[in-house]
Amino acid sequence: MTESIAISSGKGGVGKTTIAVNLALTAAKHGKRVLLLDADLGMANAHIILGVNPEKSLDDFVSGNLNLNKIPIKVNSKLDFISGGSAIHNMLNLNETERYKIIKSFSSLKKSYDMMIIDVGAGADTSSTAFMAASNKNVVVVVPEPTSFVDAYGLMKAAHFDHKIENYGIFVNNSNNEIHAKSYYDRFELIFSKYLDIKSTYLGGLKISQRVKNSIISRNPVVSDKLNKEEIISFENLYKNLEIIKLNDVKGIKFFED
Ligand SMILES: Nc1ncnc2c1ncn2[C@@H]1O[C@H](COP(=O)(O)OP(=O)(O)OP(=O)(O)O)[C@@H](O)[C@H]1O
Ligand SMILES: [Mg+2]
Repeated sequence: MTESIAISSGKGGVGKTTIAVNLALTAAKHGKRVLLLDADLGMANAHIILGVNPEKSLDDFVSGNLNLNKIPIKVNSKLDFISGGSAIHNMLNLNETERYKIIKSFSSLKKSYDMMIIDVGAGADTSSTAFMAASNKNVVVVVPEPTSFVDAYGLMKAAHFDHKIENYGIFVNNSNNEIHAKSYYDRFELIFSKYLDIKSTYLGGLKISQRVKNSIISRNPVVSDKLNKEEIISFENLYKNLEIIKLNDVKGIKFFED
């Protein structure tokens, strides 16, 4: 079975793409055959952080130019990447039928991959929650700021309301240290578990780090440099903790299902 893991957030700019890219590289390092999907359609930028220049994207599939199996580009021997395309091709405004066609077509790739990491666009619009519902597991990224808290709460509320997604893994980015990340999660969990009928698992955190910032400027992902030990450990922990996220029993179309 190919596992699909959606990385989402309520608020934008909290580090989803950074986390999706480095998690995909970490899983590939562990020998998994990984596909990274930039599902921030129309505003795709994972290729920048990944340091590749894709000549094709989901645009080519949606417009009928290429079959889906011709879209992935090779990043390394274990990692392939699909870019989400640009706004000029109207990828920002896909309708439900087009989205359905994209998700359904992934079943043709299931023999090629063990895991797909999906970088979902920020917010709780129908496109984001549809990609979350099509995935086996959901990771929500938060940062220790009240706005992130409120927006993540709104996202989980909407995804639960629209698709009955009950189980979430929470990853805390931009913390000062491990204690700060965990205590932020604990406070967040206390509030949403009181008002929402959802369950969450703490997946750890990534400190605010100049090395992460530099990695984006140099287009060389932070886990690709062995000297970045602290960041590598954070992503190793996140990778390990993916196992403890509970699956969602969501009806409807799923990635890699017939
Ligand atoms: N742990 C970190 N330490 C320092 N800077 C970080 C960290 N994580 C992310 N950043 C910075 O935050 C910015 C936003 O990161 P990123 O693009 O990954 O967020 P995003 O959630 O994908 O944004 P969007 O909602 O626009 O897609 C980047 O410039 C990145 O360098
Ligand atoms: Mg992003």
